Amino acid sequence: MAEINFDLIIAAFYLVSAILFFYGLKQLGSPATAKSGNRLAALGMLIAVVVTLFDREIVRFEVIIAGVVVGSLIGVVMSRKIKMTAMPQLVAVFNGLGGAGSAVVASAEYFRLEGLETNIPIEISITIMLGTLIGAVTFSGSMIAFTKLQEIIGGSPFIFPLQKIVTALAFLVIAALIALLVIEPNLQLFYILVVICLLLGVLLVIPIGGADMPVVISLLNSYSGVAAAMAGFALGNVMLIIAGSLVGAAGLILTQIMIKAMNRSIFNVLFGAFGASAATATGESADKAVREASVEDAAISLGYAQTAIFVPGYGLAVARAQHQLKDLAELLGARGVDVRYAIHPVAGRMPGHMNVLLAEADVPYDQLYDLDEINSRFSETDIVVVIGANDVVNPAARDEAGSPIYGMPILEVDKSRQVLVLKRSLSPGFAGLDNELFYKDNTMMLFGDASESLANLITGVKEL
Ligand code: TAP
Repeated sequence: MAEINFDLIIAAFYLVSAILFFYGLKQLGSPATAKSGNRLAALGMLIAVVVTLFDREIVRFEVIIAGVVVGSLIGVVMSRKIKMTAMPQLVAVFNGLGGAGSAVVASAEYFRLEGLETNIPIEISITIMLGTLIGAVTFSGSMIAFTKLQEIIGGSPFIFPLQKIVTALAFLVIAALIALLVIEPNLQLFYILVVICLLLGVLLVIPIGGADMPVVISLLNSYSGVAAAMAGFALGNVMLIIAGSLVGAAGLILTQIMIKAMNRSIFNVLFGAFGASAATATGESADKAVREASVEDAAISLGYAQTAIFVPGYGLAVARAQHQLKDLAELLGARGVDVRYAIHPVAGRMPGHMNVLLAEADVPYDQLYDLDEINSRFSETDIVVVIGANDVVNPAARDEAGSPIYGMPILEVDKSRQVLVLKRSLSPGFAGLDNELFYKDNTMMLFGDASESLANLITGVKEL
């Protein structure tokens, strides 16, 4: 009987996993297939983990099983308890732990090879160093992003004298240490490298203001993938290289989408020179008047419109009003109003935030329109309803050259015949800026929690 080739069987399983990852990722590209894509990719990961456990000479399975049980328990509790509004923080923690995992794996491989007292091949040594560097930067950078998003240390940029020089110095020291360590292994120097890499992560993220956080989160996500791929090279594990590269590439594509949506350049992002873009409200509002609408007026405008566009923002997530929004849209649709939803790529606090919320409420996908698709329609729209959105509809990004958000593409809602804004007050949004939209002649404000306002509008439209 022919001998069984285990390497070939393992490679075949890895190939199946990789195909499941690719196909799953492709399906994640559309809300209609995203759930099945997620399941397929998760199945791919399960196969990859099980095969790896059988492939490697695992010393003790007890520790691994204990880790899986504890990790799964934490995961289940978190997924049930975390509020939708706290997702970005959770993503930051996940990225950070992914980076830490890769750094620990790369370091463990370094300790093992260093202990063998044979020469570490240069390519292995370099990938170990890079895995440690990127993993450690991802970990500490993500933890700072977490504390900023959680408002533990405040979201505004933290800048100190000579900051850029200190950061550049940290880069140089790291490059020198890596060169030394590749030439001659040395445990003490390796520990120093880890500490400076952790410091670099902090230095790269603290100067970044709140309004730039989406870019940071997706970039750190990409870093965590690259760190995993590097750990894969160091261990000679093809699956880790593939999975890490996919995360790295997907994170980079997302970063590209985010920087375009926020008018940033990749150079600024890579070198952490985002600048202090979060400003405070100008206070201009004090001498300007807004037009406050009654529920009845707003309901009449909505009920007798021919075309309406809903623009959801972060406030929709805070108010958890996605179901009421969908009910109002259905009610208007039944009256013959053409209803669409306009989704800005950075509306909310994380990539895809609004799509996730609206999918939860079963809003039909064909009613969702991207910025590019919908902007030309506003001028021929009867009424736009802005629900808890602010920065993404702020005309200052288009009209005021000095504004910190100048150049950020916005949903040009002010071009429509009428705008109805649902929010609780005139408070600024995430970027801390006053919004001229609220004072325009064609804008009416309906103050209050979005969930209550939408419920009142539903009653108002029903009574027409
Ligand atoms: P924001 O500009 O943050 O405005 C949200 C508005 O919602 C606030 O002005 C707030 O006004 C209102 N609001 C809060 N709770 C409410 C409630 N219960 N009912 C009604 N309104 C409520 O949101 P946006 O327009 O979605 O813009 C997103 C911002 O977040 C951008 O600056 C973006 O750069 C940033 N950001 C985005 C991401 C991603 S990837 N999406 C990640 C991090 C940061 P009141 O307090 O007056 O109600």
